[in-house]
Amino acid sequence: ESLSKPPSFLHIDDNDEAKIDALLERASEIKHIISSNDLAYQPFKGRTLCMIFTKPSLRTRVSFETGFHLLGGHAIYLGPEDIGLGGREDTKDIARVLSRYNDIIMARTFAHQDVLDLAEYGSVPVVNGLTDFNHPCQIMADALTIKEALGSVKGKKIVYVGDGNNIVHSWLELATVYPIHFVCCCPEGYEPDPKLLERAQAGGISTVEVRCDPADAVRGADVIYGDVWASMNAGQKEEGQSRYKAFDGFQINGKLMAAAGPQCKFMHCLPAERGLECTDEVMEAPYSLVFQEAENRMHAQNAIMLDLLGC
Ligand code: CP
Ligand code: NVA
Repeated sequence: ESLSKPPSFLHIDDNDEAKIDALLERASEIKHIISSNDLAYQPFKGRTLCMIFTKPSLRTRVSFETGFHLLGGHAIYLGPEDIGLGGREDTKDIARVLSRYNDIIMARTFAHQDVLDLAEYGSVPVVNGLTDFNHPCQIMADALTIKEALGSVKGKKIVYVGDGNNIVHSWLELATVYPIHFVCCCPEGYEPDPKLLERAQAGGISTVEVRCDPADAVRGADVIYGDVWASMNAGQKEEGQSRYKAFDGFQINGKLMAAAGPQCKFMHCLPAERGLECTDEVMEAPYSLVFQEAENRMHAQNAIMLDLLGC
């Protein structure tokens, strides 16, 4: 069975630098085609994408569904109440059933093992649409956005300020195979996965640092990047105030942007809790790339799916 296993998109570091460059290039081409309303380009015609969500979503759901449709395909949404992944039915059974109806599967889950199991037991490509562990499609869209705004991603200093979460893990995956300067600035106790961090640092391809003083860490940054202080991972939102206390001093505001310098852009994967991890001021500023970044989810993912389906 393993001989016929199709490629999946589960971690950025399953890809090399040349592959990431090719995907970003393809994403720009698709963006151009879609932006020019060229409806003749229908590479997904006759194909179906099945999307499994066990967590809420705005961007991931709409960008995958719309993106697949715009290139001629049909997308199916299965929400948290629909299939009971791992509860009503084993993931390995779901994988084999869905593979017989669909050409490609996208999944957003709690346990990372669930997307690994879908890929292992299914016989069609699986795209990771976020797990508790990582969010590779987001960081591909972010790389596309940085390339558009700053000409290139290579060598750029990207300073993430906040919780060392799934978003940070995918930045570390990128840093493992693609040359960037990545800094995770987080409170003590909220550091990213030590094994992944070590791998990104040992790879020697990128400069990777973990810091705890935002004003110092952001100096000279090309990008300051934010995310929520409580993720959708089970229990985090419920920790509320006790969790947020740890992030005192980690808000991304005008003062922190100024500490970075006038060259610095603001990015955030969204959804944002305005007034908590970032302010209205930075969300709305001319240096904010957040909505371009959200749009680019669709183009980056279309490039990934075209590649996986060999289109
Ligand atoms: N950035 C992102 O994945 O957004 P959603 O959770 O709304 O899909
Ligand atoms: N870290 C956030 C990202 C949301 C897109 C979460 O997992 O909830």
